[in-house]
Amino acid sequence: MAEEVQPHAALPTLAYLVQKTARRLEAAGIGDARLEADLIWTTALGIDRAALYAAFRDTPSEEEAGRAEALCERRLNREPVAYLMGTREFYGLPIAVGPGVLIPRPETETVVEETLRLVEGEASPVLADVGCGSGAIAVALAVARPEAVVYALDVSQRALELTAHNAATHGVSERIHVLESDLLAALPRPVHVVAANLPYVTSEEIPLLEPEVSRYEPREALDGGADGLALIRRLLAEAGGHLLPGGALVLEMDPRQIAAASDTAVTCFPGAHVRAVRDLAGRERVLIVRTVHR
Ligand SMILES: C[S@@+](CC[C@H](N)C(=O)[O-])C[C@H]1O[C@@H](n2cnc3c(N)ncnc32)[C@H](O)[C@@H]1O
Repeated sequence: MAEEVQPHAALPTLAYLVQKTARRLEAAGIGDARLEADLIWTTALGIDRAALYAAFRDTPSEEEAGRAEALCERRLNREPVAYLMGTREFYGLPIAVGPGVLIPRPETETVVEETLRLVEGEASPVLADVGCGSGAIAVALAVARPEAVVYALDVSQRALELTAHNAATHGVSERIHVLESDLLAALPRPVHVVAANLPYVTSEEIPLLEPEVSRYEPREALDGGADGLALIRRLLAEAGGHLLPGGALVLEMDPRQIAAASDTAVTCFPGAHVRAVRDLAGRERVLIVRTVHR
């Protein structure tokens, strides 16, 4: 960041105001205060960081300064920066996000990678993303495989709206079918892979999460019941009839849940090949259940 420039008695420059925002965030204990101050101002001005730095000696209009102030207040209240910006990058794609829908996490990219690996040999993969949220997984899959058809399912109206929006932004609306559904209930045909990042935080742990998550992200996107596995267990029990022969499930969860979920998978899919895959941080995060061809 360029150095603070504030000539005495002049209107405040952007450099000065960005610095001031950073100091306020820092005083509130926000970790990446300098970076987040830049993001607040780029969002308020509708420009990128290079343009922000190039404009450091300019003075923002009252309206622009007012927008930045409102964003700063929201961040000081611990609202996640992705909600302020309205976007988060996932699998190299900008994904629109907003209050009411979970912000996609980097570890979920492992679900995308493993799903793509499983259908490498399929000419026309048919896929399901259960609990689609923003549609991050569904959109990443459809973009990566132009011949794929993806069913994106969720119980949340806001999630379904955002998924449809993201599918349109990335030009894959025609191949993503967005459906209101309790787990797989509304899935109209069997699929090669069911991919899911369902809620898996234990009810007890939710209040202990950082305020950005516990106060702002939707509880129905986080709460996996007493041991975090309530929805994952139900999905495993219900998925059998929704898979094509040799089909698979790719399920994100907490590394502490992998052993219990593997046991359930073996019971629900006798003879299936069950294995855990590590996320980018090296933790066993994704369970793959590959059924046998009969
Ligand atoms: C952890 S979020 C994941 C969102 C998105 N897939 C992602 O990775 O960013 C879980 C999603 O599951 C949805 N969900 C919760 N219960 C569900 C159910 N019974 N059937 C379908 N979706 C459900 C929530 O609304 C939420 O959007």
